[in-house]
Amino acid sequence: MRIISVVGARPNFMKIAPFIKAINAYNTGHDQKIEHILVHTGQHYDDRMSRAFFKQLGIPEADINLGVGSGSHAEQVGHTMIAFEKVLREKKPDWVVVVGDVNAILACSVTAKKEHIMCCHIEAGLRSGDMSMPEEINRLVADRISDLLLTPDRISSENLKKEGVPDNKIKFTGNIMIDTLENNRNKAEKLDIKEIVKDNSVNGSRTHLINSSYTDFAVVTLHRPSNVDIKDILEPIVRFMIDEVCPAMPLIWTIHPRTRKMLETFGLLNEVLSQKNLLLLEPLGYLEMLKLNMHARIILTDSGGLQEECTVLGTPCLTLRWNTERPITLREHGGASVLVGNNIKLIRKEYHVAMNKLRNPVSPELWDGHTAERCLKAILEFK
Ligand code: UD1
Repeated sequence: MRIISVVGARPNFMKIAPFIKAINAYNTGHDQKIEHILVHTGQHYDDRMSRAFFKQLGIPEADINLGVGSGSHAEQVGHTMIAFEKVLREKKPDWVVVVGDVNAILACSVTAKKEHIMCCHIEAGLRSGDMSMPEEINRLVADRISDLLLTPDRISSENLKKEGVPDNKIKFTGNIMIDTLENNRNKAEKLDIKEIVKDNSVNGSRTHLINSSYTDFAVVTLHRPSNVDIKDILEPIVRFMIDEVCPAMPLIWTIHPRTRKMLETFGLLNEVLSQKNLLLLEPLGYLEMLKLNMHARIILTDSGGLQEECTVLGTPCLTLRWNTERPITLREHGGASVLVGNNIKLIRKEYHVAMNKLRNPVSPELWDGHTAERCLKAILEFK
């Protein structure tokens, strides 16, 4: 069997690593090998957004890089489809496997199906209901046309059933990203937070701000266009962090390229850089981010993946969104996260609630570190 799996942007890398590991394990135990080809669309291209993850997570260099780079969504998707069609015609795989919700999965699932190739979507069935999110459109399309839909939780399986997907196409396999977390916990724990701060600092390595027992620091990540592309939304969030979080504890902000660009455009970057208790860091590697998450008092984020990691690690998490495709991570479902949108009053209220919460790790069903094996089994057994 020949499988092409596709990655494009940062959140894909931690999801594909365990899948490749599962293929390698299968191949060592079987005479009939799976031939695996890894395609990187090249949506995320810099070292910090891409190469660092391949290195840390032991992902082999992509066999094919489509080199699409940045651009508008139509450009990214269009360029990916043109290049991926050529790959499919040459390699003629039995399956194309896409993971997550970035532009690559829309482009590659559509191209695969037009070439009459079987397509499997790992992390299927997530729904935010928010059609202004590019990721929601990507998910809907990939799920509608894929042959095999592997879901991270039962809520996602139910979403697919409600949309009329037949049962034989849906398989609840668990959360593949948590495989990566479990595989890397010990390695991450060995890292030193002061070193992380020193090595990745944008505004001077103020390592003295982190005390040696790592108590009391906050972590922020923001990248969604709905939070960072509009000044009237981004500025009050920045003010809250500067005026209300920084006086209480050091705040570590790992800055996504989009957000850095927007801070600069809105004339806010210098003010952020000059805050004494704010440590602005470059985008971090997987292990470094995991280490911060293991010790942070609180995380403020608009990332979907971090919501899941906070749940497993028990880190109180404020999700700066009005909705989530991952309800299982919310407090009402036993998770660690609460939706606060970008309303400062709500952010403030929930910040104080979260600050009184103790770390409470929870592992939802099948978030057990063995999802990739179940995904591969589902593909091999699919009829
Ligand atoms: C993408 C994903 C999103 C994911 C996020 C995580 C889609 C629709 N969105 O959003 O789901 O949560 O990645 O990072 O696929 N840039 C760099 N260096 C890079 C990559 C990007 O400087 O290596 C710049 C680009 O030039 C662009 C900006 O960052 O201006 C945003 O990149 P883009 O690929 O448009 O999407 P993300 O916002 O990263």
